[in-house]
Amino acid sequence: MIRLISIFVGLGFAGVALISLAFGAYAYATDEPVAHLPYKKPEKVDFSFNGPFGKWDYGQLQRGYKVYKEVCAACHGIKFVSFRDLADLGYTEAQVKAEAASWTVPGIDPDTGEATTRPGLPTDPFPEPYPNNVAAAAANNNAIPPDLSLMTKARNDGSNYVASLLAGYQDEPDPEVLAEFPEAAPGPGLYHNPYFKNLNLAMSPPIAIDDQVAYDDGTKATVRQMSEDVAAFLTWTAEPSLIKRKQTGWPVMIFLLFATVLAYLSKQQIWSAVKPKKD
Ligand code: HEC
Repeated sequence: MIRLISIFVGLGFAGVALISLAFGAYAYATDEPVAHLPYKKPEKVDFSFNGPFGKWDYGQLQRGYKVYKEVCAACHGIKFVSFRDLADLGYTEAQVKAEAASWTVPGIDPDTGEATTRPGLPTDPFPEPYPNNVAAAAANNNAIPPDLSLMTKARNDGSNYVASLLAGYQDEPDPEVLAEFPEAAPGPGLYHNPYFKNLNLAMSPPIAIDDQVAYDDGTKATVRQMSEDVAAFLTWTAEPSLIKRKQTGWPVMIFLLFATVLAYLSKQQIWSAVKPKKD
């Protein structure tokens, strides 16, 4: 009896699976594919942190920080990063202090308790550019500039994407794109960027001309260079432990290899007394 019931239950489950497979296959065969705008895949950048032996290029991270500070910080926060984290980029303690003090952060008047501002301390997080989202949207054609701390993780192929997005603005869509997708034309207050999924976004080209940021290490500040540098900086903000993680991987792999050999040898040892049966 029990066996009969279990067979029916099993059949029931198999039936449901079959029916959903049939519906799925039907939908797959008949549904119109969702047309998406022809956005471009990010260009591959040869970042120093790519690959299993990747390393941070501290010069690049410092340049990227400068671009963030002088350009992006006007609209985007990096709220998960504190000034003291800048020590990771190769700044000394004194430099971190001076850097923190060059920013203005929200503070409280010690006598009246009223909100004021004060120079930053190393323990402060980076300040938000707008007091709230309403102010942020009002200043940016109704689009809120997203926090950039985790941006390179929030987008597919994030480091390459940010670099391509910043260096990839076009005055208008390619003619063949426009011919097929008239909606690709930028509306009022929008800017065309083939790397953005929607092709048009509310951020005006933030890095517009060469030498917009004065680099102090002699690197030529082309639009492409500044875009890559800030993308590298934002890769660090999103995953400061990226290089450590890669470096930890190697000893772990070597240990696992060693443990496998050890396990194999001990298996041989343990079973060596058992002779195969002879017929
Ligand atoms: C004048 C304000 C302003 C400045 C300066 C600015 N941005 Fe933006 N940014 C925006 C706005 C507004 C959006 C949202 C756009 C939208 O969704 O249409 C945005 C969106 C973005 C996005 C998200 C794109 C996506 O895939 O959703 C990234 C990445 C970005 N900005 C990076 C930067 C970087 C890096 C800089 C500095 C080099 C910078 N921005 C400077 C206003 C700004």
